[in-house]
Amino acid sequence: MTRKRQLKLGFMLHGVGMGWGDWRHPDSEPTASTSFAYYKQQAQIAEAAKFDFLFVADSVFITEKSSPHYLNRFEPLTILSALAGATSHIGLVGTLTVSYSEPFNVARQFASLDHISGGRAGWNVVTSWLEGSAANYSKQSHLAHDVRYNLAGEYLDVVQGLWDSWEDDALIHDKASGVFFDPKKLHTLNHKGEFFHVKGPLNIARSPQGQPVIFQAGASEDGRNYAAQRADAIFVHHDSLDEGKAYYRDLKQRAAGFGRDPDELFILPGIRPVIGSTEEEVERKYQEFANLTSIENALSMLGRPFNDYDFLQHDLDAPFPDIAAHGANSNQSQSNRILDAARKNNLTLRQVALRFATPRTDFIGTPEQVADAFERWLVERGSDGFVVNVSLPREFEVVAETVIPILQKRGVFREEYESETFRGNLGIPVPRNRYAAGDVSVAAE
Ligand SMILES: Cc1cc2nc3c(=O)[nH]c(=O)nc-3n(C[C@H](O)[C@H](O)[C@H](O)COP(=O)(O)O)c2cc1C
Repeated sequence: MTRKRQLKLGFMLHGVGMGWGDWRHPDSEPTASTSFAYYKQQAQIAEAAKFDFLFVADSVFITEKSSPHYLNRFEPLTILSALAGATSHIGLVGTLTVSYSEPFNVARQFASLDHISGGRAGWNVVTSWLEGSAANYSKQSHLAHDVRYNLAGEYLDVVQGLWDSWEDDALIHDKASGVFFDPKKLHTLNHKGEFFHVKGPLNIARSPQGQPVIFQAGASEDGRNYAAQRADAIFVHHDSLDEGKAYYRDLKQRAAGFGRDPDELFILPGIRPVIGSTEEEVERKYQEFANLTSIENALSMLGRPFNDYDFLQHDLDAPFPDIAAHGANSNQSQSNRILDAARKNNLTLRQVALRFATPRTDFIGTPEQVADAFERWLVERGSDGFVVNVSLPREFEVVAETVIPILQKRGVFREEYESETFRGNLGIPVPRNRYAAGDVSVAAE
């Protein structure tokens, strides 16, 4: 019997929660975002449920209006390295921005995580959308949207080039002859491009996955092309299955257009499930979730994709204001999606803010209903899986205990890990070292 197509599932470790008011729930741990004990416990629940990966998001600029989790949280590679020692099979994916970092450092950091974890590292390559970030990195201004993506392309060329510095069998460690490594199998990148000049080689051997897995999280035109060409997986926000299906078709076609196997690009929408054992409990829990967010909090949340725009200056019950310009050089995809929905449905600012902060999605329901939604999105090709995030305390435990067993019984999610590496569990190949594969002639180095 052929195995059904399998869901790929990630869990977003997000401390005290995505929402501005999540920490106020009577059962929440307000210090969760900097509690190693909390992260470890959540990671182990995800691994026991056989999730493909953990994901730690990031950004590099806060204001006093940022959400509680953003105000005080772990740096992704640090917490993921610690979690590598507390887990054994689950993938470890972290965000690191190309606009405010150096490729040589980042190549080292992710190669190190891949070694530490025995082949479970993933990098979410983002370009950062908050203009204020520039001031934290001694820069005059934030790069324009298209320039950020050009830079991201060259950046990844450099990092992946550095990851191939050492061929797999370059380190010989022959104590008798005193030969530590074979110099013919150590390669210097000598990259000279528009944004970066990087000589190499990298000072860490090729890692167990050959190269860490690449994630991407931009959904603008530039972001889509970048993901379709370069990423193994992409995160995205959707409001409906129809929207998901259109995006899915588009991304898979783009991937094929770049000469790739579209099945090797995983499309993973972010979802926030709320689960109850009966319809009444679902409604009670949805209200509990919605009540965590005041209208002021919802406006702060809405302001974020518009470069932290201050919506308090507008009448809440007037039509949604025309502020497209504030989203254009910021989070383009998210801000356009909000503007489109507001225009199409003739919504007021209050309505848009509440829809955005506390949406009623397909993933709010009983365990059966939510499992149906997971399967429907997979079968109808709205996604290849999901990255799960929760707002209510202990809601992830509920997902793991009630929804996952249904998906396993239906044969759309694994009962055991297939491999010890993240690539192995995703079913994607280890890229051959470009020098060993002869893609780059050694004489040309
Ligand atoms: C599940 C998920 C996680 C994301 N994580 C991050 C993140 O950690 N850091 C970040 O800057 N953007 C993250 N994004 C992406 C942003 O929401 C946004 O879409 C993107 O940065 C804007 O790029 P664009 O202008 O190309 O759309 C994430 C998106 C999703 C759907």
